Amino acid sequence: MAEFTLPKNSKVVEGQRYKAPAGATRVQEFRVYRWNPDDEKNPHVDIYEIDLDACGPMVLDALIKIKNEVDSTLTFRRSCREGICGSCAMNIDGTNTLACLKPIEAVKGPVKINPLPHMAVVKDLVPDLTQAYAQYRSIEPWLQSETPPPPDGERLQSVEERAKLDGMWECILCFCCTTSCPSYWWNGDRYLGPAVLLAAYRWIADSRDEHTGDRLDALEDPFKLYRCHTIMNCTETCPKGLNPAKAIGEIKKLMVQRQG
Ligand code: SF4
Ligand code: SF4
Ligand code: FES
Repeated sequence: MAEFTLPKNSKVVEGQRYKAPAGATRVQEFRVYRWNPDDEKNPHVDIYEIDLDACGPMVLDALIKIKNEVDSTLTFRRSCREGICGSCAMNIDGTNTLACLKPIEAVKGPVKINPLPHMAVVKDLVPDLTQAYAQYRSIEPWLQSETPPPPDGERLQSVEERAKLDGMWECILCFCCTTSCPSYWWNGDRYLGPAVLLAAYRWIADSRDEHTGDRLDALEDPFKLYRCHTIMNCTETCPKGLNPAKAIGEIKKLMVQRQG
């Protein structure tokens, strides 16, 4: 995705600098966005100098080291540290990605870390995902079928039917894509955004689901779906290598086909 540079008159000023321990030879600077709603101050950027010889290889390792050893007030989400839970999504070096999958060495110069763009911030690097989760709930992300499952158990799919879900089931709902999408920035209250639309198509494309028509009806709306202008930031930034823009294109295609 496009990289951002803060304007010179930005209110995000430099805060505290935490020096590397004496004798550290491989020092990397981490410039981390800080904002605490409880202290009524403007956001600022704290600078942490970290000895890479005493730190794991990923940006998340550095954040955990800072929290454990330097500044316990630093707040961020993380859980799996394996690119599976989606909770460590943030903007690193101008790109939305997962801190646990981003090698420190891939960043040239100081590592700039900000919360996911254009979301309200709860604190420091924690974005408020309330709206995004409500939008996810709105697409009813579960199998819907009137036909009862066979008495001996499972609803089967052919290999080809199952293959249609590849590239979608892998989504970890990190919202890196949604928060990189200019259409979502401007119309996030009404446009569902790439992560939720990818999830919607995952159920539309599922051969076992019998509510395809209802699902398409629910998306037939000038804002929910059609605010996507194929800018492709979403696909470019997805840390799992998925293609939400293509899924959105498939939904639009089905909308046209069913009118014919
Ligand atoms: S392709 Fe659509 S969803 Fe993806 S960034 Fe562009 S406008 Fe947003
Ligand atoms: S499509 Fe990719 S970037 Fe978007 S929520 Fe899923 S895993 Fe994250
Ligand atoms: S900690 Fe789970 S995806 Fe990074």
